[in-house]
Amino acid sequence: MKRILVTGGLGFIGSHTVVELQNEGFDVVIIDDLSNTRINVLDNITEITGIKPDFHQIDLKIKKEVKHFFDTNTIDGIIHFAAYKAVGESVGKPLDYYENNIGSLIYLLQEMRNRNIDNFIFSSSCTVYGQADELPITENAPIKKAESPYGNTKQIGEEIIQESCKAYGLNAIALRYFNPIGAHESVKIGELPLGVPQNLIPFVTQTAAGIRKELSVFGNDYPTKDGTAVRDYIHVVDLAKAHIAALKRLINKKNKINFEFFNVGSGTGSTVLEVIKAFEKASGKPLKYKIVGRREGDVTAAYADTTIANKELGWKTKKTLDEALEAAWKWQLKQEK
Ligand code: WQD
Repeated sequence: MKRILVTGGLGFIGSHTVVELQNEGFDVVIIDDLSNTRINVLDNITEITGIKPDFHQIDLKIKKEVKHFFDTNTIDGIIHFAAYKAVGESVGKPLDYYENNIGSLIYLLQEMRNRNIDNFIFSSSCTVYGQADELPITENAPIKKAESPYGNTKQIGEEIIQESCKAYGLNAIALRYFNPIGAHESVKIGELPLGVPQNLIPFVTQTAAGIRKELSVFGNDYPTKDGTAVRDYIHVVDLAKAHIAALKRLINKKNKINFEFFNVGSGTGSTVLEVIKAFEKASGKPLKYKIVGRREGDVTAAYADTTIANKELGWKTKKTLDEALEAAWKWQLKQEK
């Protein structure tokens, strides 16, 4: 049985991936510093799968602790989610973002090199493409200068991994996520935004639940079909499954993989107004919203060409936007109780 380390395994995408790993028969060990989640997620994962994952509360910025973990654990592969992820916050706290997102990555790669651990999966982002010149976005689209320190940590992260693969013979896959939404069908795990949500879907569900007064739609003067910005929303369980596919590719490799990257999206673009309409249908509730000015740093449109990921990973999304919104709404309703 392969033992997989999942860093940030109690976070939104991490927790869903832990469930899928356990369902696929992997032995999971989680590292999380609990800086942006709650410890009860561990029990909720256990309720879903019937297996309690091994858990270590470790701050990956502390090199000594990282080394101690690897001294006392045998690991066959790493899925590295642990990172700060708030775009706006990163502009005011660049050093915190670089220290956390880059520092922890370097320490993990050093341990892999020192102990000959193969198989590394990195959470990257479609943000590396900025406003792509062509849509849908293929993996061949050029990387644009990052708009934020957060985005830069993903670009630099990919470069560090690529160079480490080359120098030390590691094998790694970066998954460039589009917009993950939704929650597990058990309604036991989902997104836990702290404070006022910056992302569209949690803001929408909180507005429908009466926690927020109304949604501000950021701009309706974009060159899109209804003037609002287009994104590729992917159900978090589909996204979690992409990690299993990538892990199997690494584990079963016949030749050296070195460094690969794949787009992980649904392949469909939806405008903000389309999302609102679909949400109203899924929840059966009208949503209060107003149009305001554009948000700084937002691109007009981003959605994935998933041809390469579909072919190489043998993976494809199964869930629709409606299903994802319904799951997000059920999750929201449970939070109120
Ligand atoms: C989606 C759309 C907003 C909030 C996020 C992450 C980014 C990257 C990709 C990981 C946009 C609009 C939003 C609101 C709105 N992920 N919106 N009112 O901007 O695509 O980026 O996913 O790396 O880091 O931040 O996602 O959910 O913030 O916005 O109108 O209150 O909804 O303008 O068009 P985004 P989002």
